[in-house]
Amino acid sequence: MKRILCLALALFLCAQGAFAAELTVGVCIYDNTDAFMSSMRLDLESYAQGKAKLIVYDSMNDQNLQNDQVDSLLRENVDALILNPADRMAAGYLIEKAKQRGIPVIFINREPMPEDLLLYEKAYYVGADASQSGRLSGEILADYFLSHPEADKNGDGTVQYVLLRGEPGHQDAELRTQYALKPLQSAGFRVEKLQEDTGMWQRQLAQDKMGTFLSAWGDRIECVICNNDEMALGAIDALKAAGYFTGSAYMPVVGVDATAPALEALQQGSLLGTVLNDGKNQAQAALDLAILLSRGETPTAQNFGYPITNGHFVWIPYRSVTREILSAQGGGT
Ligand code: BGC
Repeated sequence: MKRILCLALALFLCAQGAFAAELTVGVCIYDNTDAFMSSMRLDLESYAQGKAKLIVYDSMNDQNLQNDQVDSLLRENVDALILNPADRMAAGYLIEKAKQRGIPVIFINREPMPEDLLLYEKAYYVGADASQSGRLSGEILADYFLSHPEADKNGDGTVQYVLLRGEPGHQDAELRTQYALKPLQSAGFRVEKLQEDTGMWQRQLAQDKMGTFLSAWGDRIECVICNNDEMALGAIDALKAAGYFTGSAYMPVVGVDATAPALEALQQGSLLGTVLNDGKNQAQAALDLAILLSRGETPTAQNFGYPITNGHFVWIPYRSVTREILSAQGGGT
């Protein structure tokens, strides 16, 4: 009788999922000192609670190190991989490794080439459409120049700008740069680049570069376009040191990400606008997808919620963030 009860209890618990083997997902973050990625790592860790065990490595911006980390995750028999490559051109190599084991691999933040994703039916990219973020930051600037004719300081109908780029070769750096100017042009402005340089996504480097731009061009600069918020904050640091944002000395600066310090700068009036790079939903979608695929399920509108484009891409939309939008939403993104 006792044995029958024990067996019944075991079957009951099993049906409740209490004995279901916990999934393990291996995660590599390209560089944990990156403001955006370190916050996405936290989003992944908190969303994984109760869903999967995560083993997370910091690849310290070194693709060879990440390749070794992936080997070690595979030795630990992880059920899926979520990878943020240091070099997105390494995706094909990493996909091959996952394919040999038959486990899903989800890339985040650094978009692999489509031909690499096509190598394997369980290879996906969860990210955001970089051109959209460029366009949205350009729209914020176009609205500003249309509603502030005095922002065209020399009144020549041309917006003289400087630009701080992200890391060369990163899709977000290339496409944000390319698309940020289009809305200004569609609004009827000519654009003239005074100077552009890479701040490698970093605040300090961007501050130094902005200092150089200011020495060369001073008040001829009419706006500052930055591929991310960290660099926008660095540019603002340099502008503040040069006397901007006190009295009537103003400079429109735009970034992308909507990080917490950027939202503060927005509230204080130094950052004109940013674009939400929705790391939280990217992290959640990447983990949901990893779990579904490692259980052998096919992601659908019902069990996953996002459409899958071209069989391999999940796009999480960007959203404009300005002070007006924030206050209309009661302060949060
Ligand atoms: C973010 C940057 C970040 C970069 C890292 C971009 O999507 O906007 O802030 O540094 O990804 O790869």
